[in-house]
Amino acid sequence: MCGITGYIGTNDAKEILLKGLEKLEYRGYDSAGIAAFNQDGIHIFKEKGRIADLRAVVDGNVNAQTGIGQTRWATHGAPSKINAHPHQSASGRFTLVHNGVIENESELKAKYLQDVTFISETDTEVIVQLVEKFSKKMETEEAFLKTLRLLNGSYAIAMLDAETPGTIFAAKNKSPLLIGVGEDFHVVASDAMAMIQMTDQFIELMDKEIVIVKKDRADIYNLNGEVIIREPYRAELDVTDIEKGTYPHYMLKEIDEQPLVIRKIIQAYQDGSGSLRIDDEIISAMLGADRIYIVACGTSSHAGLVGKQLIEKLADIPVEVHLASEFGYNMPLLCEKPLFIFISQSGETADSRSVLVKVKELGYRALTITNVPGSTLSREADYTLLLHAGPEIAVASTKAYTAQVAVLAILAFVTGRAKGLSLDLDLVKELGIIANAMETLCGAKEEFEQIATEYLPAAINCFFIGRSIDYFVGLEGALKLKEISYIQAEGFAGGELKHGTIALIEKGTPVIALATQAVVNGSIRANVKEVAARGAHTCIISMKGLDAEEDRFILPAVHELLTPLVSVIPLQLIAYYAALHRGCDVDKPRNLAKSVTVE
Ligand code: F6R
Repeated sequence: MCGITGYIGTNDAKEILLKGLEKLEYRGYDSAGIAAFNQDGIHIFKEKGRIADLRAVVDGNVNAQTGIGQTRWATHGAPSKINAHPHQSASGRFTLVHNGVIENESELKAKYLQDVTFISETDTEVIVQLVEKFSKKMETEEAFLKTLRLLNGSYAIAMLDAETPGTIFAAKNKSPLLIGVGEDFHVVASDAMAMIQMTDQFIELMDKEIVIVKKDRADIYNLNGEVIIREPYRAELDVTDIEKGTYPHYMLKEIDEQPLVIRKIIQAYQDGSGSLRIDDEIISAMLGADRIYIVACGTSSHAGLVGKQLIEKLADIPVEVHLASEFGYNMPLLCEKPLFIFISQSGETADSRSVLVKVKELGYRALTITNVPGSTLSREADYTLLLHAGPEIAVASTKAYTAQVAVLAILAFVTGRAKGLSLDLDLVKELGIIANAMETLCGAKEEFEQIATEYLPAAINCFFIGRSIDYFVGLEGALKLKEISYIQAEGFAGGELKHGTIALIEKGTPVIALATQAVVNGSIRANVKEVAARGAHTCIISMKGLDAEEDRFILPAVHELLTPLVSVIPLQLIAYYAALHRGCDVDKPRNLAKSVTVE
């Protein structure tokens, strides 16, 4: 959601900024803009729509060695050219891009800016106007600091001052921002991915810090103006990880990467003797908890539901799963010794982060399971487990989901083993079987494309049903289908249908049923019969050993606790092909953002 780039060096900034913004497209946006600063002043180009639309309006004759850019995902004001960043102060002296939300915008306007005419509907404009107001009586750096001290909310900011050439003023609070360090340049980026082609050396910024960035130095201060010394770290990103290669879409590439991700996870969590291992501190936090609260959003919360089963069955600890956006405002009565597990691919989701802040205020311990080392949720929790899934660029999460389930399985298993429970499970072997099964499924794409063609070409809705763990996978299948194909899709517990939902079934309604659990195999098949009798177009995806003649697809047999890792793949692929056939933008579905950094 929103992305910032900045460059200061010796090359033409425009192309570097635009390429960087293209790398941030995955985060979701609806307008974009850049500001290029040269001896003639600051030149602004912005446009509603895609980076390609912005490229079309950028004047190729403007050569500038300093610039800032932004992709905007509308929060305050519609997606439009006028609301697109960069925004300028009344005199045009200051130019600024901003990610985040300023919560006290109205108060600040009323107190300091009554005489200023605002051009856009954004909350961002208040920042740049405040800097201009204060700069009349002080140096730019002081005016910037004074402004930041007044802001409530989240921000990542990059700003140019027409009277201070050769400088980018940057700042961060709750929204990510990094400074990249090169031989004779510096870059500013929301995500190392945007600038990895330029450098792999990045300086992390902490909340409420500012940086004065020049071609050959970057000076960090806190909001009291005290100097902060921080060395760059090496971003371990492989440039090929963020390229599509020969794939038509990132989503398809990421679906295909799942077997490899599972193998990487096994390796990452094995010790020298091949046994699965997790930091002792994390395991003792697990063992010390009388209840675990999993907090997450969207796909990550669906992985959390599977994680509940795994932890309860393998580690014998009760687990509750909560949506972050609900938990924060309606906290349940907590047990005496809770442990919180935050699951977040990006590690930046604002809803989850706001719960983490409350949990820390209450003095409880928190573990983050994330794909992004150094992300906000990782830094702010007591412990982190990494997913090792590599960058996930398609908005629809696929490999991060399976990685989350696999890491939760390892966490549950190692905890159960540490507790002395006798577990009849060789998890390394079973995950190896899973990786092979995933490969088989990724090799059967035509089958899933055929299912999408048969069941979903003109569908206005689609139901996913399952019982037990299959129900949770159905929720994820429905989310995948709705978010990228825009078909209204819902996941239901098979047994619940007759309590209301079955009223929606009519002739031809697609119903996709999962049947991977022996204990409910009979009952889910009975539910399929109930909907088929009312005209539903049913598609059963079962597992070898539990299969029946009427099944549409039979998954390779895997351990019954780990079936989500394979049963989700047909659902991901069916969603992919349904979206493709409808001409939808698979990797960048409408209205969605990859990293949801506003509550
Ligand atoms: C759906 C999807 C979202 C995310 C959700 C949480 O495909 O990706 O539902 O799972 O926005 O994001 P993270 O995991 O980054 O906290």
